[in-house]
Amino acid sequence: MKKHIVLLPGDGIGPEVTKAAKQVLEAIAGRYQHTFTFESHDIGGAAVDQHGTPLPEDTVEACNKADAVFLGAVGGPKWDQLPGHLRPEKGLLGIRKQLGLFANLRPVQAFQQLLHASPLKSEVVAGSDLLIVRELTGGLYFGEPRERRDNGQSVVDTLAYQRSEIERIVEKAFQSAQVRRKHLTSVDKANVLESSRMWREVVEEKKQAYPDVEVEHMLVDAAAMKLVTNPSSFDVIVTENMFGDILSDEASVLTGSLGMLPSASVREDGVGLFEPVHGSAPDIAGQNKANPLASILSVAMMLKHSFGMQEEADTVEAAVHEVLHAGFHTADLDITQGIEVGGSQMAAKVIEQISTNDTTE
Ligand code: NAD
Ligand code: IPM
Ligand code: MN
Repeated sequence: MKKHIVLLPGDGIGPEVTKAAKQVLEAIAGRYQHTFTFESHDIGGAAVDQHGTPLPEDTVEACNKADAVFLGAVGGPKWDQLPGHLRPEKGLLGIRKQLGLFANLRPVQAFQQLLHASPLKSEVVAGSDLLIVRELTGGLYFGEPRERRDNGQSVVDTLAYQRSEIERIVEKAFQSAQVRRKHLTSVDKANVLESSRMWREVVEEKKQAYPDVEVEHMLVDAAAMKLVTNPSSFDVIVTENMFGDILSDEASVLTGSLGMLPSASVREDGVGLFEPVHGSAPDIAGQNKANPLASILSVAMMLKHSFGMQEEADTVEAAVHEVLHAGFHTADLDITQGIEVGGSQMAAKVIEQISTNDTTE
């Protein structure tokens, strides 16, 4: 199969983890006789420096033509003082919006080999396997107006949703629950926010069409608590943009590191942008310390969601499991046993595993 992939390395550790993602795609292409072609484009701070904008027109055009997009990370202290429309993060928000990627799927799995890497008790973390379905192109992130007023004495951000935007993300979550353990937790703040009350209404309406899925509503503050006290009670969580952003970083604690969490940002037709959940980690950039596994697992999501390559995706995931099982880990995982390696060595171990397990020849 032929596929064309656009790479958006971005800033900080973005280029390091994007390199690992590309190498894994090349290893899969080699093993399964696929042809993957690549094209890199600027986004974020790198694009501000090169083109004076965090999202150049070229980048959008290339993404529109691609079969899939991989994004490393954007942002960093160098660009933090720029006005809102020039910030690197605006590039990421812009590409999500322009590609219509309304659903952000963030799976969180406690790997058996990493139970001790979490600051939570192993018996609490064990067995956790959940999926956060985060609404990605609405809510507080995009609502208008958003501005300073009264000579800087007041400020407004807007949380707005179209009913149709809630409907499509809720449907996506029900469909995800149907192919998992058939349990859906809708997280909101319906005791305070009108938008949450509409969100709850939509979930109640939509559940008629998915009678096999058990539905539960939970307030976001309680959900934040339950995520670290009883994480294995969750299957699929569906929530609005900002709540999903915060809860997913919290949930990364179950895996031992933010450097373990992959994600897929998709729309109805399966077109997607695949991005680790973590940011540009300026504190470790350029030191070969970045854990590439979030990116490598995002590649597995690309293979499955955008290319329909289930076996190839399973091969990538199995390789990650094998390498962790062999005791290799990067410095972000707080474990005393095993062998600590740098980010590029970790990627090389996974690639070696993909190639040595080759039974297709
Ligand atoms: P961050 O996710 O970059 O880092 C948080 C902490 O996790 C840091 O200590 C970092 O070293 C560590 N970490 C993150 N990824 C890691 C990895 N792969 N391996 C090892 N350790 C890892 O969040 P932050 O520090 O709050 O933000 C830094 C910048 O990144 C900001 O400019 C922010 O806007 C941006 N950001 C971008 C994205 C994205 O591009 N998708 C996501 C989140 C934050
Ligand atoms: C993420 C990031 C982004 C978000 C930022 C960088 C705009 O935190 O992908 O989780 O808030 O969506
Ligand atoms: Mn985030």
